[in-house]
Amino acid sequence: MTDLNQLELDLINAIGAAETAAEVEELRVAALGKSGTISGLLKGMGAMSPEERREKGPVINGLRDRVQSALGARKAELEAAELESRLQAERVDLSLPARPRRKGGVHPTMQVMEEMISLFADMGFAVAEGPDVEDDFHNFTALNFPPKHPAREMHDTFFLKPDPQTGERKVLRTHTSPVQVRTMMSQTPPIRIVAPGRTFRKDSDATHTPMFHQVEGLVIDKGVHMGHLKWTLETFVARFFELDGIQARFRPHHFPFTEPSAEMDIRCDRSGGTLKLNEGDDWMEILGCGMVHPNVLRACGLDPEEWQGFAFGMGVDRLAMLKYGIPDLRPMFDADVRWLAHYGFSPFAAPSSAGGLS
Ligand code: PHE
Repeated sequence: MTDLNQLELDLINAIGAAETAAEVEELRVAALGKSGTISGLLKGMGAMSPEERREKGPVINGLRDRVQSALGARKAELEAAELESRLQAERVDLSLPARPRRKGGVHPTMQVMEEMISLFADMGFAVAEGPDVEDDFHNFTALNFPPKHPAREMHDTFFLKPDPQTGERKVLRTHTSPVQVRTMMSQTPPIRIVAPGRTFRKDSDATHTPMFHQVEGLVIDKGVHMGHLKWTLETFVARFFELDGIQARFRPHHFPFTEPSAEMDIRCDRSGGTLKLNEGDDWMEILGCGMVHPNVLRACGLDPEEWQGFAFGMGVDRLAMLKYGIPDLRPMFDADVRWLAHYGFSPFAAPSSAGGLS
């Protein structure tokens, strides 16, 4: 018996001293493998007399069980320690720049939208959104389009089938201006928002597509005037085109929802086949804007004596073409991967005014 006690003591000590899972495995083979010491003892039981077996059997089996569980416990301990040290050693540095994939990229329209949002965010604007399928109230009526007024036709509206119960015809929004209405009706001023999104008009030629993108802007506060509008838009346009300043003019125009209304033009030179901004005697229209019409404020539950504001809207696809020298509008919506590979942007370079726009 003392032999067995000694054997157990030696094995348990050796197992405790094992430094690696491989060493534990060696000990297991030496004790419990085919020709292991404990296996030998178990085999020897076959030759014992029944009395001897009854006496020694439980002792040998107990020894085997204890050695087996000591082996298992040490193995688990060592594996946990090995995993821990591997996790320490193989740490991944997530701040390293990712390797760009070769295919796929951010569409210029989306890139420019992100650029616009980051520039306006710097000026304290939040992002607001509204649905693509709008009702007549938000797209037209609340925006001071008189009923049956030709301006509704001017927008080449896509109408949905009338609702069989109410007869109401929803529309695909013809501009992002309904988000002005939704924002004024759901928030208390002061308000400063930009609303990027898809817009739809029944128009299709070299310079128009039935679906296009706009970014809308709205500011509502006390004592807001045209000077604020002018500064905001000139500052934005200069930063957007990454110029020190911009030579712009505000040309009178008409929109039902602003009064006065204007279109903003920037000075440009088109001679020689290339477009140069801030040079020459040409003007290029880039957006529509104006002071929010009192009727619109009233329709949204705001008192025009108390609150004033300005709004603007611009075509994102067109500004993307201008900024990145894309000559033709229609391929922008063709979903051609070769076009995207050429004009697309890295998804890893998020535009920001601090880190650079593009
Ligand atoms: N909604 C106008 C358009 O689509 C643009 C605009 C927005 C004009 C806001 C003035 C103020 O043409």
